[in-house]
Amino acid sequence: MGRILILYYSRYGAVKQMAQYIARGVESVPSMEARIRTVPAVSPVSEASESSIPDSGAPYVTLDDLKECDGLALGSPTRFGNMAAPLKYFLDTTSSLWLSGELVDKPAAVFSSTASLHGGQETTLLSMMLPLMHLGCILVGIPYTESDLNTTSTGGTPYGATHFAGENGQNAISEEEKRLCFSLGKRLGEIAFQLKKTNLK
Ligand SMILES: Cc1cc2nc3c(=O)[nH]c(=O)nc-3n(C[C@H](O)[C@H](O)[C@H](O)COP(=O)(O)O)c2cc1C
Repeated sequence: MGRILILYYSRYGAVKQMAQYIARGVESVPSMEARIRTVPAVSPVSEASESSIPDSGAPYVTLDDLKECDGLALGSPTRFGNMAAPLKYFLDTTSSLWLSGELVDKPAAVFSSTASLHGGQETTLLSMMLPLMHLGCILVGIPYTESDLNTTSTGGTPYGATHFAGENGQNAISEEEKRLCFSLGKRLGEIAFQLKKTNLK
C-alpha cells in the first residue's frame, strides 16, 4: 500500500473541498491511499498556538506524516498572490527533513483557490513549488492531454489544480475543476506507485 499526503490550509472551505476531490483521484489508483491533513491557523499577535487537536475536520499534520508518505499534494488559498501563512509556517518547521533528505524524490503536486479569476492562482502554485523543490520533491503538474485545461472557463492550470471561488466564495467547484483535481490526484498516485515499485523511493 502506498500513501499520498494531502496537506492543505483552508479558511472558508474551498481548498478543503478540492483536497477531497484530489483524494478521490489518489484512491482511484489501486493500492494507493490518501491521508488528508491540515495545519493550524497562526496568530498575528503571538506564538500562542491552538490546541493540538482541531475542533473539526482533518487532523493537524506532523513531520511523521511527511516521512511516511510516498508523495504529497500541498494546497492553500491564494493570499496576495502567495500561499497562506499557516502553511508556510508549517513548512518552515521541516528543516530536519530537509537535512535528512527525507522528501528527496517523492512526487509532489500543488493546488489553490482564489476569489478572482486572475488574482494569483499560478503565482500561488509556484510559491508552494519553491519549498518542495528545496526539499527534493519531483513536481507533478497537469498535462494538456487533460482536455478540460483547454475548455475551462473557471480554474485549472498546467501547474496544478485551481478553483475560482468568486468574491464571496459563492462559486461551487465547477465540473472541469473537479475533474482536474481528480486527474491530478490520480496522476500523483500513479507516479508515486511507479516510483515505489522501482524502489527509487
Ligand atoms: C488576506 C487575504 C488575501 C487574499 N488574497 C487574494 C488574492 O491575492 N487573490 C485572490 O483572487 N483572492 C485572494 N483572497 C481570497 C481567497 O484566496 C479566496 O477566498 C479563497 O477561495 C479562499 O479559500 P478557502 O475557502 O479554502 O479559505 C485573499 C483572502 C484573504 C483573506
